[in-house]
Amino acid sequence: MKTIEQLIDDVKVHGHSKASIRPNIRALFEQYLVDGGFENEIHKHFSSSDIIGTGAKQINPRPTISGFRDALAVEVIAYILLYDAGMQSLEAIATGEMHEDNSAKSKTGFRLGHSLAWPEDLDLVIFAKASAEDSEPSLSISLSEWMEIIAVVTAEAWDVADVIDAIAEIEQDSAKVKGIREMADIGGVPESTSELLNKWSTTDLVREITDLIEGTDEDGTYGADDSVNVEPAETKTTAYPLPDEDKSRLIDLALSQAGLPPVAEMIGVINKLTDEVERRSSIPTVTDAGATATGDEELPSGKVTTALACDVFGLKGVKRKTFNFNVPVWEWDFDHPHVPSKDPNYQFQTEALMRVLYAIITNSRCYLHGHTGSGKTTLIEQVAAHLNYPFMRVNFDSEITRMDLIGRDVLTTSTDEHGNQSTVSSFVDGILPQMMSGPYIGCFDEMDFVRPDVSYVMQRVLEDKGLMITEDGGRIVAPHKMFRMFATGNTVGQGDEFGMYQGARPQSLAFLDRFTVWAHIDYMPKHQRKKLIEANCPSLDVADLDRISNYVDEHLQAFKDSKVMQPISPRGYVALGQAVQAFYTFFETDKKKAFDQAFETTILDRATVQDRVVLQGIGNRLFDTE
Ligand SMILES: Nc1ncnc2c1ncn2[C@@H]1O[C@H](COP(=O)(O)OP(=O)(O)O)[C@@H](O)[C@H]1O
Ligand SMILES: [Mg+2]
Repeated sequence: MKTIEQLIDDVKVHGHSKASIRPNIRALFEQYLVDGGFENEIHKHFSSSDIIGTGAKQINPRPTISGFRDALAVEVIAYILLYDAGMQSLEAIATGEMHEDNSAKSKTGFRLGHSLAWPEDLDLVIFAKASAEDSEPSLSISLSEWMEIIAVVTAEAWDVADVIDAIAEIEQDSAKVKGIREMADIGGVPESTSELLNKWSTTDLVREITDLIEGTDEDGTYGADDSVNVEPAETKTTAYPLPDEDKSRLIDLALSQAGLPPVAEMIGVINKLTDEVERRSSIPTVTDAGATATGDEELPSGKVTTALACDVFGLKGVKRKTFNFNVPVWEWDFDHPHVPSKDPNYQFQTEALMRVLYAIITNSRCYLHGHTGSGKTTLIEQVAAHLNYPFMRVNFDSEITRMDLIGRDVLTTSTDEHGNQSTVSSFVDGILPQMMSGPYIGCFDEMDFVRPDVSYVMQRVLEDKGLMITEDGGRIVAPHKMFRMFATGNTVGQGDEFGMYQGARPQSLAFLDRFTVWAHIDYMPKHQRKKLIEANCPSLDVADLDRISNYVDEHLQAFKDSKVMQPISPRGYVALGQAVQAFYTFFETDKKKAFDQAFETTILDRATVQDRVVLQGIGNRLFDTE
């Protein structure tokens, strides 16, 4: 069965045109049903549901997959897809909750499942009753707030903008969509929910909720990786008590109407998360604050200070709480020449950033893998730039030798006071001892191309014991306290699993084992990509941004599906956008021509003959500006 991520990718590939989103989501869902073997489940549900029958509000078509599918509210389908949830989330079928649907697209005349528009008094039913006899309400958020939070944070974990856009296209005038938009756009969060969003970190909340809904989080596609957790600190419990049995029963009844788990489970989650927040606020800590580096004529002296990650990386909204921990930041007495400059347009992806910072704080070896152009190298470089951390990169894709890494004897001629010349040999350090002996973030790039003799050297470096240079009398170079080591690769180090990275070698497990923090870096999500193009091509209008962004989606998918050999990197599509901008001024009256020229100039003319055919096909379809 496809993972949800792939399914969502599929939706993206088919574009977001109003006409296609609904059938696409449905088509996806159908496949999900078939792949997941849910057919029997559906029959079971149908046969026991009182929606089936002949009344005015009953599904008349036979209980087939397509009949069922057509009757489902699209938001329910989206919900199932997003949460990778099974039939258990379709309580609505058993309870027969229906909503009329007057839209022309509806085949059945009504929708089956939760409506995003909750009946207004539902909150009252549940919460007013619960709190009437209780001086302290047992839950201080309303059901609809709870649902919105789930919707928003879950969307956040995937790609808020896409999900909201998709919903908005289906529910065009819905006030709910407006509400969700406002919430996603942090400025508009209502008071009570903003407190809540701040209280819980996005990823934990999502993980907890997901676990709750489907039992496990097997593919680990969302939520923070457990490996990112540091030793649990002592926790203090500020637990919400359970309502007494009678009240619980009442609340549970209402919750189950809404397809939600029982209140005991929900309170359990809230309590667990509250603990988690406590715990998190005490970690992680930068133990090396105050570490120093002594300079020379060329390099400045410096010391480590700490600052909050959310400030350093300029994060906004909910992300601030997740990144509310200290990171080391260097202060230099003059500009360090090896600190990279910040790219103001760089878009940090939350999860990847978290892993990289975690590796820096805990001095763990970190391996980033992902397709070429997904931004692995730039991520490490930009983290260094923001932390004012010197950065050095070795690219193993090139013919780098053991001597380049370690160093070599160099002959120099010197003349004494009598004018006699003599030749002496001295050892000049290679790049490894240079970066290790300073406070560098070292980036070993394209590590999966490393040659075995070179990887042997690298293994020593990874061992923490220091690097012994036999060529220089067995001198041992101990790593600087603030030396940090990252590796990147297109593969996970076990050879070319995609058939597109010839030359990627399987690395020894002993070698890979030295890396304890791993992160998969994917191509930027669509909304970030749009932002990047927009920032670099300010005169393009929304339709142009959409065209380019859709093109990039299809191009990347063609690459992932091995239909073309050449991916498109952010550099590539920004160049396309800029060329479109420029050609607009040349071909003022002919937008299509401007697009075609820009496309040829930046993409087609560098493609191989085979790639060109495929890419041209995508372009012809998407760059039709008529
Ligand atoms: N998140 C991002 N925001 C802005 N630019 C990015 C981002 N990720 C990658 N880029 C740009 O894309 C190009 C390729 O990135 P790079 O780090 O070289 O990819 P990789 O190392 O994965 O092959 C670079 O020009 C980089 O500036
Ligand atoms: Mg790279």
